[in-house]
Amino acid sequence: MKDILTAPFMVEMIRTTENMYAHGWDERNGGNISLRLDTAELGEYLDTGAVLRELPTGFAAPELEDAYFLVTGTGKYFKNVRYAPEVNLGIVRLTEGGAVAQLLWGFTDGGAFTSEFPAHMMSHVARLSIDPHSRVVMHCHPANLLAMTYVHTLDEREFTRTLWQMCTECIVVFPDGVNVLPWMLCGTNEIGEATAEKMRTSRLVVWSQHGIYGAGRDLDETFGLIETAEKAAEIYMKIAHLPRVNTITDAQLHLLEKRFGVQARAGYLD
Ligand code: 13P
Ligand code: ZN
Repeated sequence: MKDILTAPFMVEMIRTTENMYAHGWDERNGGNISLRLDTAELGEYLDTGAVLRELPTGFAAPELEDAYFLVTGTGKYFKNVRYAPEVNLGIVRLTEGGAVAQLLWGFTDGGAFTSEFPAHMMSHVARLSIDPHSRVVMHCHPANLLAMTYVHTLDEREFTRTLWQMCTECIVVFPDGVNVLPWMLCGTNEIGEATAEKMRTSRLVVWSQHGIYGAGRDLDETFGLIETAEKAAEIYMKIAHLPRVNTITDAQLHLLEKRFGVQARAGYLD
């Protein structure tokens, strides 16, 4: 058996939590990540038959039966992950139709997966129905996206168009736009279901006055998605109170579509 701390998925997860903390997106225990693991690869590092504990999830996700996830722990600080991955992270397998998560590694202090596990698992189901290569769900609290939800309309078309207008490459990175949920109580199955529904049409879902969810094929891509949206929100927050003299026009956004071979969300450009 190889050392699990050297596994590419573990190294990448540790780097990502470190980087997200460094960006200021994950104060205290803010934010959480789940990464769907390749079963064969995991088998090189772990006896997947040895279950340490069983944790009830409180929801059903039959589509994820026997799926393995590396996931951040509830109440754990991203800044600490690198120093004690086995305390702050866990590897679980979903069974009994998603109602039970079997702990195979980690959470050595008796901890458990993130309180946002419903939103994560339900979002995985939603994204996998669209892209079978989808592996990552990431949540964090970037200041500018959060700030924007206080001063900008939450209309998804308007919110998306504003972000697209803030940096030339936004429409290339997230042509599917950004979906937006109103304020809802976090950590519940209800916000999980609402997030998953929004994930069907976009890989980015803003939680108003709370943060953002991103989904993607790997940690780097998902990080980059949130990073790009947050950069655009930062520019918006710098200019929102100033007279707008110039902008990126819809005609220019159409040029970007053609040049980069992407299709903007239907009906979002004039
Ligand atoms: P957890 O510590 O349970 O992951 O919660 C952090 C968070 O961001 C809640 O939305
Ligand atoms: Zn949060």
